[in-house]
Amino acid sequence: MDKKSHWENMYANRSPDAVSWFQLEPTLSLELITKEELSTEATIIDVGGGASSLGLRLFDAGYKNLTILDISAIALSHAKEALGEFADKIEWVEEDITQFAAPHPYDVWHDRAVFHFLTESEDRTKYIEVLNNSLNIGGYLLLAAFAIGGPEKCSGLDIVQYDLDTLTRELGNGYRLLEQRSELHTTPDGKEQHFNYFRFIREH
Ligand SMILES: C[S@@+](CC[C@H](N)C(=O)[O-])C[C@H]1O[C@@H](n2cnc3c(N)ncnc32)[C@H](O)[C@@H]1O
Repeated sequence: MDKKSHWENMYANRSPDAVSWFQLEPTLSLELITKEELSTEATIIDVGGGASSLGLRLFDAGYKNLTILDISAIALSHAKEALGEFADKIEWVEEDITQFAAPHPYDVWHDRAVFHFLTESEDRTKYIEVLNNSLNIGGYLLLAAFAIGGPEKCSGLDIVQYDLDTLTRELGNGYRLLEQRSELHTTPDGKEQHFNYFRFIREH
């Protein structure tokens, strides 16, 4: 099954609050995004945002230039539904991130549990190329992935676990770490998953 069909199937067969990565509130992501007191005009993209409420929470916090990208149309339709009448204030992109051509640059790139699905090095190279073509110098990269020793699969797919060393090797030398945090996520069926969150600034 190709990637897109996998994700469409996943969202077609489960309610958005039953998937293992469901969070009632994206508390740590919000904290890390709002930390730098960005202007409400900042351009923010949630890569593989799925049905997460992060877009809604950022919109409620006053951010005006939000993009939510996901490979799954069904996931995006859940996120749109949550935004209701405000959905048309957001840019929605149904695309594989490794194929994305950004229509404008971003000040913040957020990715929770998407990069870690790229098990092929060519896909990771493409992702980093898209990131480098899309994120402003001086912009922030917030990336959350399963930690070393954490789960080896997510949604039935193999993943790559990351710590600072392995992630930095993938990113190359344009990014400086500002902060690393860990989070023990509890899935809807009660399993604990160890995530690492990394906040970088793009320096060149
Ligand atoms: C584990 S979920 C995380 C969703 C969301 N970031 C969150 O934290 O709730 C991974 C999401 O990434 C999307 N996805 C997976 N591979 C992708 C790709 N190559 N390009 C874009 N989206 C992708 C899936 O459809 C899914 O919504």
